[in-house]
Amino acid sequence: MQSLFNELTFSNGVKAKNKFLLAPLTNMQSPDSGKLSEDEFHWLVKRAEGGFGLIMTCAMPVLNSGIGWDGQLCIYDSDQENGHKRLNKSLHDLGSLSIAQIFHAGMRADSRYVSEKVGPSYHQETATKEMSILEVQELKTAFVDCAVRAERCGYHGVEIHAAHGYLIGQFLSKDTNKRSDKYGGSLENRTRILFEILEEIGQETNEDFLIGVRLSPERFGLDISEMIILYKNLCQKTNIHFIDLSLWDSFKLLDSAAYKGKSLLKIFSEIKRKGKKLTVAGKIFSYEDIEILEKNKVDFFCLGRAAILDHQFPKRLKEMGYNFDAYSAPVSRNHLSSEGLSEKFIDYMSTWKNFVEKNNDL
Ligand SMILES: Cc1cc2nc3c(=O)[nH]c(=O)nc-3n(C[C@H](O)[C@H](O)[C@H](O)COP(=O)(O)O)c2cc1C
Repeated sequence: MQSLFNELTFSNGVKAKNKFLLAPLTNMQSPDSGKLSEDEFHWLVKRAEGGFGLIMTCAMPVLNSGIGWDGQLCIYDSDQENGHKRLNKSLHDLGSLSIAQIFHAGMRADSRYVSEKVGPSYHQETATKEMSILEVQELKTAFVDCAVRAERCGYHGVEIHAAHGYLIGQFLSKDTNKRSDKYGGSLENRTRILFEILEEIGQETNEDFLIGVRLSPERFGLDISEMIILYKNLCQKTNIHFIDLSLWDSFKLLDSAAYKGKSLLKIFSEIKRKGKKLTVAGKIFSYEDIEILEKNKVDFFCLGRAAILDHQFPKRLKEMGYNFDAYSAPVSRNHLSSEGLSEKFIDYMSTWKNFVEKNNDL
């Protein structure tokens, strides 16, 4: 148990005070300007107060053409900087590291905000236009600019969101990437955009700035065998500091023919990482869950729904030790309100199955 509260040291020497990461969580609480709202500030700072050693923002678009939904916090414009600076000051005063998650929704952009959707290739059903080579270069520049802005605003690092079928994931997938130039075709070509972004961010930011990647190892049009190769290449051929595997269920056994009965977690956690730290997300709700992950060489633990339910998950676990009693969903609106969620965020959580009690008491 104590090891969870020991420092986590990344390969560039940056240290987190413990091994608890607040997952990137879209919370729909910011205004259309993309500037940080009081509600989003409050929600994140409360998790730092509750003992999370690392706090990650929600997915933030690197261009306005990448807005994926309502109420999204953004970082593509200098007008948006002040809110981030204020947030970071408060998170750092509480001893937490802060990480900005940056992304582009691509063909999954929200047409209320984005007049022309772009993707690696033309896609009829979503009315997505194929990006020109120039637009691919602009996308890369936008990721790098946002990482530099994140550093200027005080974040300790960035995570490139390459998971969940958004634009970088659309480049990775054979289903959505039909390009015939150097960004399409072979796996090397489909992953090129990601490696180029990582390399340039590494060149444009300081050594003590953390760089990480979030990957979906399967689903979202991805082939697990290819994702294993990508993961190995990220470990062996880049200078990034961490990989965040979005497993959705950290304890899942695969049922596809080639991997039948194998643990999704083990397939990745047993691969040599050359100093990169591994975090995973998906159904981590209890101390017992974390213990299994720790035994499987996971370095730090990315909590989504458990952190929404309990802003003090790390603090209470430390105090209660083996008697820790995690909250479990569904919970009342009152409970979520006392955990620092605004009405808007609670409404959003009501769209997640069995999370908010139907007979609400507010
Ligand atoms: C309300 C909600 C919002 C989410 N928003 C994001 C997001 O902005 N970026 C992202 O990479 N994943 C997002 N996810 C996925 C989580 O980061 C996490 O991987 C997932 O919830 C599984 O972890 P959990 O079982 O601990 O909730 C979201 C999940 C939830 C429940």
